[in-house]
Amino acid sequence: MHVPVLKKEVLEILGPQPNENFIDATISEVGHTGDILERIAPNGKVLGIEIDSEIFKNIKPKERLIAVNDSYVNLKQIVEKNNFKPVRGILFDLGMSSWHIDESGRGFSFLKDEPLDMRYNVSQSLTAQEIVNKWPQEQIENILKEYGEERLAKTIAKRIIAARPIKTTFELKRLIPGKTKPARTFQALRMAVNNELNNLKIGLQQAVDILEKGGKIAVISFHSLEDRIIKNFFKNNNSLQIINKKAIKPSKEEININYRSRSAKIRGAVKK
Ligand SMILES: C[S@@+](CC[C@H](N)C(=O)[O-])C[C@H]1O[C@@H](n2cnc3c(N)ncnc32)[C@H](O)[C@@H]1O
Repeated sequence: MHVPVLKKEVLEILGPQPNENFIDATISEVGHTGDILERIAPNGKVLGIEIDSEIFKNIKPKERLIAVNDSYVNLKQIVEKNNFKPVRGILFDLGMSSWHIDESGRGFSFLKDEPLDMRYNVSQSLTAQEIVNKWPQEQIENILKEYGEERLAKTIAKRIIAARPIKTTFELKRLIPGKTKPARTFQALRMAVNNELNNLKIGLQQAVDILEKGGKIAVISFHSLEDRIIKNFFKNNNSLQIINKKAIKPSKEEININYRSRSAKIRGAVKK
């Protein structure tokens, strides 16, 4: 099960009140949305978006919850289609859920021997296998550098080309030199497969367009590349006022209970 991170902090930033409407752009297992729904009772609604159709089909119908199987890059369109206005707040809780690692069987973790897939949206054609087996060395090197901040990007890219075809996580892990952390290569591939940084930029812009005046946006990220995008977006957007100058991190207690939260950070802003 996915344990929601920074629960208290999300509620502090978004400040949901009875009868207000919120969007959860990454609803997954309805963790944060469960709390928001309680606070906005009796009439407030949540519009929840989830890109992964397998996760989506496990979302149980709930009163005052509208769940949509789509990507938040289509946020504006989804809001219009569902006539969901005014919007008092929007939450993004980025990346994958625990389910992706533990149960999807799609090769998100280097600790499990699975086919290299890494798609959130299984109907898209690009997979991690396609990248490692078809992309030119230079392009692989670039994503390892850019999305994985991997110093040995060139070496690893070379080894990938030489070892083709590569079908599984363990076949890929074997190519990563001794002391280097496989997590960086795996992160880079996942971000490339799902176009995560571009999607984030598009989603943030649409979120600001949709929010009503005084409405709030909260974004939880899990690595520095995402956090930088969010920080700069908030800083450079004239219609936003930053709520917390410094990103808020989970307490020691939360990290002890939920190890996955250790790299989480949350930033919030208000629409002027
Ligand atoms: C960290 S989890 C969110 C957990 C959720 N807040 C909860 O408490 O249950 C992130 C979710 O976002 C989904 N996701 C990733 N990219 C997405 C996108 N572009 N549009 C919509 N959902 C996306 C993933 O499939 C995953 O289920």
